[in-house]
Amino acid sequence: MRSFAPAFTLLLCALLGQTQQNSISSPHCRNIPGSPGYPTASVWNELNATVSGRLVPVVPSAKYCDSLPTGACTDAEWTSSEFRGMIPGAMNEVNWEQGYDLNPPSLCLRNGTTCGQGDVPTHSVEAETVADVQAAVKFSAAHNLRLAVKSSGHDFLGRSTAPNSLLIRTANFQNISFTESFFVGSKDMGSAVTVGSGVHANTLYLQSKANSKILVSPAAATVCTAGGYVQGAGHSALSPTFGLAADNVLEFYLVVASGELLQVNSVSHPDLFYALRGGGAGSWGVIVSATFRTFPTFNTSSNVIVLIAQNETVATSLAAVHAQHIFDWDSVHAGQYFVLAKNSTASDSVYILGLNTYLPNISINESMALFSPFMEAAMALPGVFLELQNYTYGDINDALFQTDDSVGSNAVLGSRLLPASTYRDSPREVGEALVKLANSGATEVLGHLVAGGKVAENANISSAVHPAWRTAKTHVVLVNTWDDTATLPEINALRKRFQTTQLPILREIAGPNAGAYSNEADLLEPNFQTTFFGPDYARLSAIKKKYDPQDLFIVGAGVGSERWDEWGLCRI
Ligand SMILES: Cc1cc2nc3c(=O)[nH]c(=O)nc-3n(C[C@H](O)[C@H](O)[C@H](O)COP(=O)(O)OP(=O)(O)OC[C@H]3O[C@@H](n4cnc5c(N)ncnc54)[C@H](O)[C@@H]3O)c2cc1C
Ligand SMILES: *[C@@H]1O[C@H](CO)[C@@H](O)[C@H](O)[C@H]1NC(C)=O
Ligand SMILES: *[C@@H]1O[C@H](CO)[C@@H](O)[C@H](O)[C@H]1NC(C)=O
Ligand SMILES: *[C@@H]1O[C@H](CO)[C@@H](O)[C@H](O)[C@H]1NC(C)=O
Ligand SMILES: *[C@@H]1O[C@H](CO)[C@@H](O)[C@H](O)[C@H]1NC(C)=O
Ligand SMILES: *[C@@H]1O[C@H](CO)[C@@H](O)[C@H](O)[C@H]1NC(C)=O
Ligand SMILES: *[C@@H]1O[C@H](CO)[C@@H](O)[C@H](O)[C@H]1NC(C)=O
Ligand SMILES: *[C@@H]1O[C@H](CO)[C@@H](O)[C@H](O)[C@H]1NC(C)=O
Ligand SMILES: *[C@@H]1O[C@H](CO)[C@@H](O)[C@H](O)[C@H]1NC(C)=O
Ligand SMILES: *[C@@H]1O[C@H](CO)[C@@H](O)[C@H](O)[C@H]1NC(C)=O
Ligand SMILES: *[C@@H]1O[C@H](CO)[C@@H](O)[C@H](O)[C@H]1NC(C)=O
Repeated sequence: MRSFAPAFTLLLCALLGQTQQNSISSPHCRNIPGSPGYPTASVWNELNATVSGRLVPVVPSAKYCDSLPTGACTDAEWTSSEFRGMIPGAMNEVNWEQGYDLNPPSLCLRNGTTCGQGDVPTHSVEAETVADVQAAVKFSAAHNLRLAVKSSGHDFLGRSTAPNSLLIRTANFQNISFTESFFVGSKDMGSAVTVGSGVHANTLYLQSKANSKILVSPAAATVCTAGGYVQGAGHSALSPTFGLAADNVLEFYLVVASGELLQVNSVSHPDLFYALRGGGAGSWGVIVSATFRTFPTFNTSSNVIVLIAQNETVATSLAAVHAQHIFDWDSVHAGQYFVLAKNSTASDSVYILGLNTYLPNISINESMALFSPFMEAAMALPGVFLELQNYTYGDINDALFQTDDSVGSNAVLGSRLLPASTYRDSPREVGEALVKLANSGATEVLGHLVAGGKVAENANISSAVHPAWRTAKTHVVLVNTWDDTATLPEINALRKRFQTTQLPILREIAGPNAGAYSNEADLLEPNFQTTFFGPDYARLSAIKKKYDPQDLFIVGAGVGSERWDEWGLCRI
């Protein structure tokens, strides 16, 4: 997927698109506006009629804002994932809408004076029925179009958008249905919920609370549990208790490249069931719904603790103390999100370590007792100050519910799964590495204690979940951001910063062959096949060939993408 010679590739597309359009073998390039095989307006109108008028033109989010009666989006709208979720062309990290690598680059910046279509699709089918999806899939295949699939637009690798593509958006798939006994074949799998692929996590938490249930779902407002989340693996603060989302999904309904709607579970198309659980978002078909195990709800103790370390030396000791104590909460299968950031606005730079921990079924007092060894060790370090500590107690659905996600910036990520053995053997080195990463220009270093416990116990489930999840303790993410004043060379350096600067630091502790979580990772990961998908990429490739022989569902750093250019427009 990596091509740094866009001009040449586009030229090749144009030439080969012309010479091969009538050939029976796979065409070299997708048809784009201007290619001879590209649908005419009347052909698009036929599709529009088939999908009951739900084919819409797509524009970048900045252009959408300009077209509002007020002439602009407010800051609150621009940064709201709930608001952006209503805009077909919007990505939550706006950089993915930009065509930095197109020749010439095609950008549409907020309040800008010019606006190019960039990497935003040309049309979207705002699907409401399975038949809409089937029509769009068949249309893409028949006209050799680049197809993109989106539910929330949260993707951190930009996989839900593509230039010159037809988008299928599943945001309207809002069905939710709870049952006490869900059958796979003749086997009763117990209580479960069937979730449309457009249902936001926050809606699901409200509904699961109303049904006195809980399920493994994201720590987010609008991420779609039955969209990209589960296909990547899907972690949660409840993963140490219940496992990954992919460990708890029982069935999918999915439209595959042929246009067929398939029921996919452990007995029906089990090979595809294997791939859909960890084999990567967007590579298999269009999910209509997925069914997840549910559990009786319970109360959780949650806490937020913010510590300040007054200089780098102190921060390193503090991060090491955290690494030493990270096993303290295993007895109750706690999940924790932590953030380490350098605050460079102060004249002396200080470091902030923030922890947000969920302890299922545990009272506030018990959770304070479980935190006291860590807190005592942390506060014993000269130069560490307690900024905030807040313990709360209540229903787990309420604890995980979020009203909105703050988005609308430019951001790229990079990540690694850190093995539990690293934490056991070398906590000091973990602390040192995290501080080096916080110094590496990253806006923040995010740690996720969402492995161990049930995630490790589930090691023998046969799915495409990367085996590194089963031995990991944490998932560590680097966030690199920029604002719209950055120049293209600066942006391109930032896009590569994880590979050039940060990954070497992570390798010191995670080892040279550590895995990474494909949903929160670097699109430019050179060896994504093993880093994201583990040792059995060949198995995923074979499943891909069987269900998607023409590579209709291609996403960056996804299965089969090595056959395509950066945009999924031409074979390489
Ligand atoms: C604020 C925030 C919080 C997050 N929290 C968590 C978390 O707690 N745990 C976690 O594991 N991850 C988390 N993530 C990462 C999240 O799992 C990924 O961003 C994921 O790709 C989002 O899926 P989506 O469908 O909502 O997004 P989209 O951008 O719409 O799609 C993402 C990918 O899924 C594909 N896709 C979308 N819909 C469908 C469909 N109907 N059928 C087939 N493919 C589809 C797209 O083609 C694309 O490849 C978070 C992300 C954000 C932005
Ligand atoms: C599809 O039809 C609807 C309703 O007739 C119309 O509003 C929309 O603009 C059409 N889409 C395109 C791409 O022409
Ligand atoms: C863009 O315009 C909006 C509305 O006028 C304003 O609130 C916002 O601050 C502007 N943003 C930038 C980046 O200029
Ligand atoms: C949603 O549920 C209704 C009622 O069960 C059903 O008719 C419809 O097909 C479902 N829609 C999708 C997209 O699954
Ligand atoms: C960073 O430091 C400045 C100045 O001390 C302070 O105002 C700001 O709130 C700090 N930022 C964070 C994220 O703590
Ligand atoms: C919470 O406690 C109840 C009552 O003891 C128990 O039935 C349930 O399984 C527990 N749930 C979890 C997630 O520990
Ligand atoms: C929790 O601890 C406080 C202070 O030690 C004590 O007063 C209270 O009774 C305890 N509550 C429970 C439920 O044990
Ligand atoms: C960092 O702070 C600690 C604690 O106050 C202090 O002992 C140490 O000298 C400081 N180190 C540097 C390099 O400033
Ligand atoms: C503690 O957390 C609760 C729940 O999130 C919140 O309502 C409350 O304002 C917080 N208190 C402080 C002091 O931050
Ligand atoms: C859960 O906590 C609430 C208070 O937030 C309390 O009213 C309720 O009884 C608790 N439920 C259980 C099962 O402990
Ligand atoms: C997985 O299966 C192997 C072979 O049966 C067994 O030795 C191992 O203990 C199992 N691992 C887990 C985590 O259950």
